Amino acid sequence: MSTVVMLPVIRARAVEAAALALPQPTTAPASVAAEPAPAPLVMVRRARRSDLPAMMELLDRYARRGLLLPRTPEQVRRQLADFVVAVDVTGVIGCAGLRRYPGGMAEIVGLAVDERSQGRGVGRHLIDALLDEARALGLRRVFALTLQDGFFHRLGFRTTSVAEFPEKIALDCSACAKRATCAEIAVVLDLDD
Ligand SMILES: CC(C)(COP(=O)(O)OP(=O)(O)OC[C@H]1O[C@@H](n2cnc3c(N)ncnc32)[C@H](O)[C@@H]1OP(=O)(O)O)[C@@H](O)C(=O)NCCC(=O)NCCS
Repeated sequence: MSTVVMLPVIRARAVEAAALALPQPTTAPASVAAEPAPAPLVMVRRARRSDLPAMMELLDRYARRGLLLPRTPEQVRRQLADFVVAVDVTGVIGCAGLRRYPGGMAEIVGLAVDERSQGRGVGRHLIDALLDEARALGLRRVFALTLQDGFFHRLGFRTTSVAEFPEKIALDCSACAKRATCAEIAVVLDLDD
């Protein structure tokens, strides 16, 4: 039996995200009276099994470019409960997960927004949903290892040392083929700030 669980925080986020007015390309000259195009609705909600193919497509695409760690469908399926997705009328346009560690710590993983939807606040809404969830769980710190530190800085994260996250190093970095040349930057947000 499959049960779709929408956490209260995600439901609240969905309402807010549904009201998100994403910018539309303007094709008509200003002098021509035209019906305003309806703003596309974007909802952030808990990931479902049926989202897996679209999530894998996104995650694989960015993993091939070295922007995300490669993940197998089986790994993502096992972590599905940790993920939220952003959806519009076209389907899944973004995803992100919250991987928990002992000591009230969690990592943002698998953050990806489809190129066609970037720059419209989708990434911010995904992270906001995960931060709401982390706060609801009573977590203290959320971190990410990223090449997009500028994005995280816009959301209030600060740069720190990877050495602050020994559990992450033990789980992923120690066995990573790129560990000697890794350019990823550690960013962290203290939730009680
Ligand atoms: C990084 C990524 C998730 C951002 O998603 P997005 O939906 O385009 O971001 P948003 O529109 O929500 O941006 C939120 C803010 O961050 C800024 N921003 C976005 N990407 C940025 C970047 N790479 N550098 C600096 N600022 C950035 C935006 O300008 C916006 O600023 P504002 O608050 O002044 O409006 C997206 O570009 C992506 O999927 N990249 C490829 C995969 C990847 O690198 N994932 C990160 C792995 S940790």
